[in-house]
Amino acid sequence: MKKVYIETYGCQMNVADTEVVFSILGKAGYERSASMDEADVILANTCSIRDNAEQRIWGRIDQFNLQRRRNPDVVIGILGCMAERLKDKLLESGKVDLVAGPDAYRGLPQLLAAAAPGHPQIDVLLSREETYGDISPVRIDKNGVSAFISIMRGCNNVCSYCVVPYTRGAERSRDCGTIIREACNCQSKGYREVTLLGQNVDSYHFGEFDFADLLSMVAEACPQMRIRFSTSNPQDISDKVLETMAAHPNICHHIHLPVQSGSDRILEKMRRRYTREGYLERVAAIRRIMPDCAISTDVIAGFCSETEEEHRETLSLFEQVGFDSAFMFYYSERPGTLAARKYPDDVDIETKTRRLEEIIALQNRLSLESNRRDIGKCFEVLVEGKSKKSEEELCGRNSQNKMCVWPDKIHKTGDFVKVKVEDCTQGTLLCSLCEQ
Ligand code: 5AD
Ligand code: SF4
Repeated sequence: MKKVYIETYGCQMNVADTEVVFSILGKAGYERSASMDEADVILANTCSIRDNAEQRIWGRIDQFNLQRRRNPDVVIGILGCMAERLKDKLLESGKVDLVAGPDAYRGLPQLLAAAAPGHPQIDVLLSREETYGDISPVRIDKNGVSAFISIMRGCNNVCSYCVVPYTRGAERSRDCGTIIREACNCQSKGYREVTLLGQNVDSYHFGEFDFADLLSMVAEACPQMRIRFSTSNPQDISDKVLETMAAHPNICHHIHLPVQSGSDRILEKMRRRYTREGYLERVAAIRRIMPDCAISTDVIAGFCSETEEEHRETLSLFEQVGFDSAFMFYYSERPGTLAARKYPDDVDIETKTRRLEEIIALQNRLSLESNRRDIGKCFEVLVEGKSKKSEEELCGRNSQNKMCVWPDKIHKTGDFVKVKVEDCTQGTLLCSLCEQ
């Protein structure tokens, strides 16, 4: 049996894709290898979202090539978004033998059979139909508690800064029957949580079913599992979705709602299809329907032509919403996107970095305040394992996706446990076990 080693970069969707790839290669007789030293095939499932993501992967490709000195027959391949974006430029580097885009994974066994140093293979065709719906992923997570389920692929939004529509193609939804079957399968294998994944889950539609219908079908089919999902778009998240979340005790109260900017002029240039006011209205709807729902976000500092005043509008929006957590970036121009073609990347790097640092400092305070508000509250958490710091402590997340740690010698990974928040840091709720 040939051995294949895969490194996964980027978003959760890429983790789900790597699991699909292991399934396809497993059926074709490949065995999974935990290290690249003994692998016959080394693959990187890559991300193109920002330039530094790609730079990091180029560094890894050089390291893979050192492996060639030990094993001249090793096949080095690039999958995912960078494969799709750079196409034969990757082959021209002379450092890789295989390039396969996100919709080309069914053909990987054939590509691998033909690929060899000096005989590179490439397939970067995007599809309008491919969802890998019939494929049972081979899970790569370590603890067997939480699984990702991809419910759609691609994106039709075309935000002006974003490379994803070019790397992952047009949006398509997966057959809901196969999603429910996969979720039930996870439940029967002992998983206690699934995260439904899509670039824009609220535009899921299959036949007569929308995303809210899918959520309730999964929640009802798998009553012993928690259901999470990501990512929602502010213009699309409907009251029906919020009411469905509120109605099912096993759907987690956490929404990841990327805002990107607090300025209407910048939002328009980004081609986001909401205003600051529209965003705040959705936040109000979330809090009206689920007062205990956590909200996290993504933000980009220093987008083309952003002024100091517009940056302050982002800070004030953060303050106004009081996000529980955030992923924060500065703008990285991506070749081929609308913004790269139309707008100069004219905020200098010092200004971008300083603005990003200001947002991070503010969010650190907001995260701490959000956690402090939880002191004294009790939560049900799903045990993920031992805490990083102590053998005597367990860790796990509550419904709001906040990390909790508590001293515990009784419970084990996969248990649901009631804990009480005694104290907190900015990133963690420090808890004790409740009387069971
Ligand atoms: N530069 C910086 N951040 C970006 N993101 C997407 N494209 C870019 C870019 N060109 C961020 C957005 C998105 C998250 C996944 O990555 O905030 O929500
Ligand atoms: Fe990176 Fe976006 Fe591709 Fe995910 S979809 S791997 S975040 S570029």
